[in-house]
Amino acid sequence: MQTLAQNLASQEVDASLTQLIHTLANTSKAISHAVRHGALAGVLGATEQENVQGETQKKLDVITNDMLKERLKDDNTVRGLASEEEDYIVEVGDKGHYLVCFDPLDGSSNIDINSLVGTIFSILPAPSGELSEASFLQAGRKQVAAGYVLYGPSTMLALTTGQGVQLFTLNPDTNEYLLTNDAMNISKDTGEFAINMSNQRFWEAPMQTYISDLLLGSIGPREKNFNMRWIAAMVGDVHRVLSRGGIFTYPTDNKNPHKPYKLRLMYEANPMSFLVEQAGGKASTGYENIMDIEPSEIHQRVAVILGSANEVDECLSYHGLDYSKEPLV
Ligand code: AHG
Ligand code: MN
Ligand code: MN
Repeated sequence: MQTLAQNLASQEVDASLTQLIHTLANTSKAISHAVRHGALAGVLGATEQENVQGETQKKLDVITNDMLKERLKDDNTVRGLASEEEDYIVEVGDKGHYLVCFDPLDGSSNIDINSLVGTIFSILPAPSGELSEASFLQAGRKQVAAGYVLYGPSTMLALTTGQGVQLFTLNPDTNEYLLTNDAMNISKDTGEFAINMSNQRFWEAPMQTYISDLLLGSIGPREKNFNMRWIAAMVGDVHRVLSRGGIFTYPTDNKNPHKPYKLRLMYEANPMSFLVEQAGGKASTGYENIMDIEPSEIHQRVAVILGSANEVDECLSYHGLDYSKEPLV
């Protein structure tokens, strides 16, 4: 089995990007170690702080954010970073080629029930000139690499540098990432969907109709039964989609009129969309491809529909219909 280093060399990834990917991979090993110690290390539970988005931070949100920030600060390939858990961008070095955006701990509500969590990252080229928030506001298409680490029964790293998606498993005996799937591939069709059904009455009409038709199964217009899964950690749900197909969505809702979307474009939607497209799937808001969005601010949120290409197209076809005469709820 190839090591991460061997695989990056075989892809001819340049030296500075290779160095940065190793920094992220090595930090994820330390995070995996912290997560596995759980209550023994006193790292479970919440802090008394909120992040800039008004969410209460878990202790592990803060610990993992600090781990990534400190290690990325020591990497001379990094010009700056942006994190879900940082109010503002952080300037690192003036010579680095890359900007790193990350969600240090995705699915952190799962931590206290010992369920799936992960780290998601996105690497963008650093524009020349002074660094500001505007330097980060690049469409997802500009990403040079993206990936996630899943802290599950085994720790896995899914990575793309634009040459497909490679999956590595952390060998707990040697603490080394080994290639266990050299080309993740999302099946075009699926019989599985992932959505938080408790928000049903708050969705837009197209999504309500689409999901209703899935639930009708073999007696509805789709003429087949669908299964449902919801891990409450995007990293777990997307990993399942990459592993065995499916459609995952966190759509627009009007539960809180000030917050119509949940997932974050720079830390969650863009890196996952890059991986999904590289594995043959699709990623959309319902109205445009996620990676074509020109961001307006680093913490912006967006509707997400991603996964098996034909099923995403099916969902999008509902969004093209005229729902203007139907009530929203
Ligand atoms: P985070 O823990 O980084 O804030 O992200 C949680 C996100 C995402 O991972 C997941 O798909 C979604 O929130 C779950 O939301 P619900 O709790 O509304 O189901
Ligand atoms: Mn998250
Ligand atoms: Mn998070």
